[in-house]
This record gives sequence, C-alpha cells and structure tokens, in this order.
Amino acid sequence: MTTEPYSLLTTRELAAKYGTTIGELEQQFQPDELVRLNAATNGITPTAVRRFLMERDVSYHFRVIVHTTMRGGIGKTTSTITTATRAAQYGFKTCVLDLDPQGSSSLALGAVPEEDDPIFYDIWQRPEELLADALVPLSSHLTILPSSLENALLDASLLNPGSQKKAVKGVCDQLRLQGYDTVIVDCPPSLGIAVISAICAAHTIVVPVGSDAFSLKGLDLTLDEITSICDTFGLPHPAVRIIYTRYDQRETVSHHALSRIKERHPKLPLTVIRTSSEFSKVLAAGETVFSRYARNSARDDYDRHVSALLGITPQSAGDTP
Ligand SMILES: Nc1ncnc2c1ncn2[C@@H]1O[C@H](COP(=O)(O)OP(=O)(O)OP(=O)(O)O)[C@@H](O)[C@H]1O
Ligand SMILES: [Mg+2]
Repeated sequence: MTTEPYSLLTTRELAAKYGTTIGELEQQFQPDELVRLNAATNGITPTAVRRFLMERDVSYHFRVIVHTTMRGGIGKTTSTITTATRAAQYGFKTCVLDLDPQGSSSLALGAVPEEDDPIFYDIWQRPEELLADALVPLSSHLTILPSSLENALLDASLLNPGSQKKAVKGVCDQLRLQGYDTVIVDCPPSLGIAVISAICAAHTIVVPVGSDAFSLKGLDLTLDEITSICDTFGLPHPAVRIIYTRYDQRETVSHHALSRIKERHPKLPLTVIRTSSEFSKVLAAGETVFSRYARNSARDDYDRHVSALLGITPQSAGDTP
C-alpha cells in the first residue's frame, strides 16, 4: 500500500456503487494502488479508480462545467469545490477555474494568489504561453487557476464580442491540450461579461437554487440568458442541470419550492442537496466534504450529483435522496 496523503475515494464507496464486497473489490487493485486511510478505511489512487471505471465504460471525454446563477449565496462555490474534489477522486484530471473576483473557491481550496501571481485576467489572451505557470496543483488530479479582485476588470477588457466568445473557451481548450478531463468553473453572482464568456465555453451548466423567491427568479433569468447568449453567438446549447441546495424536508417552504421547480422545468435534471452543517464545518477547516471520510448526507448527496454529472451511475436510483 502507498502512503499518499491526499483525499481518496474509499474502497467501501466503490464497492457499494458496484454492488460488490470490499474484499472482492480490493482484489481488483494492486497493493500500491490502495492506501490505508484509517483503521477501518482504505482509499484507491485516482489513477487506479480511472482504470477501473474505464473498464466499465465510464467516459473521460473533456467537459467544461460552469456554475452560475444571478442569485448570490446559494451554493455555486460549494458545488464547484465539492464537485471538483470528487471528480479528482474518480480519476478525472480536474481544474477549478475560479472566475469570481471574490476568490471564494481559491480561498476554500487554500490557493489565494499573491500580489504578482497570474490569474485568468493576466493569461486569457495568451493561454498557450502563460497558463501553465498560473496553475496551482492541489493533488495529483486536482489543480486550480485561482482568482483575485483583478478579475473584476475582465468585464471592461472583454467588451468585444469575439473576445467574450473565446476568452474562457481558449483557456479551457489549452487545459484540454494539457491533458485535463474537466474544467469546473465558479462564477460570480451576476451575468457580467466574464460569466457570458464562461457560458460560451460550457458543455454543462449547473444552476444552484434555494427555496426563496429570489433564487427561483434567478433560475428563470439565468435559463433565459443561457438561451439568448448561445443564440446570439451561434453556439450549441449546453446541457443544464439544477441543484436544489439546502433542502430541508422538515420545512414546507422547501417542499413548495421543489414542486414549483419540477413543475416549471420538468425536463431539466435536478439533484437535491439536503441542508447540512457539514458544509460550514469543512469550509472552516479548509476542506470539502470529500476530504474527510465520515459518512453523512452532504457526502451522499454530492456523490449522487457528481455521479450523474460525470456519467458514473451503475447502481443509480435517480437524483433525489
Ligand atoms: N446544502 C447546504 N447546506 C447547508 N449549507 C450550505 C449548503 N450549500 C451551501 N451552504 C452554505 O451556504 C453558504 C453560501 O454558499 P456558497 O458560498 O457556495 O454560495 P455562492 O453561490 O458561491 O455565493 P456567492 O454568490 O457569494 O458566490 C456557505 O456558507 C455554504 O457553506
Ligand atoms: Mg461563490
């Protein structure tokens, strides 16, 4: 067994997903692909998970996944960092692209840039030359292009529609050439020009919603904007998924909001993420729910979301808990 220290998918989780016992599953890996995490838990290296999943027809084709909604504080950053950590554990070579000038994803993943460190604003015009030096590695399969306040200047420097169409896409294309399987983008709570550029690059857009009226309105506006941006630029429409964050089954307001979303958008795939104090606990420790090995609803719900998002669904019973 190796002693790699970063967070890993556990043999228990993969065995449960593929309906086998931990003992039978572990026989399918070499000793150096398994890592003792604690007295009861073994992890699997991302490279070994990738081999295992590819043998079961999981595709690692390149995809850009953008988190956006006009409503603030509803879970874009939480979903970005949690999805990215899990994708890396599943063996996807993953880059977080933080486009929010507030840099919340960068802060959460412990990668706040220093004054002179390059960010998206500095490199988007020449990513083939400048991107590699701007990336901050976090683990073997997880990297971030961090953000800071200067990214707020993007809206002024992307006034030309040609630049809007190509800025984020150009950086993502370069990441694909460098061997990344997925780019997970965190956007600010607006539909500014940097967000338009991210939408132009997206294969999938994840729109978080909560139970308040503003967030439902934010969903409708965001969906309309995605359609209009893609039509304006002559781009194919990306797949859209909704995540309902902070769902509380004890609250009538949560039931009502969920029914309303399903009524209004019956064709859009929807994952419910239950409200959990785990999110703020792990954030305070600079971690995500997948950096720890305790079983909880936060981990279960995001695994269901990420599995559906990335097509890892052998035993899937749907997207709701
Ligand atoms: N399912 C959940 N249960 C409980 N708390 C949650 C859940 N999802 C997110 N949160 C908490 O909600 C707060 C806001 O989440 P987050 O920062 O991800 O939102 P955001 O949309 O990125 O905000 P902003 O628009 O400011 O960028 C955070 O404190 C986060 O820990
Ligand atoms: Mg955020």
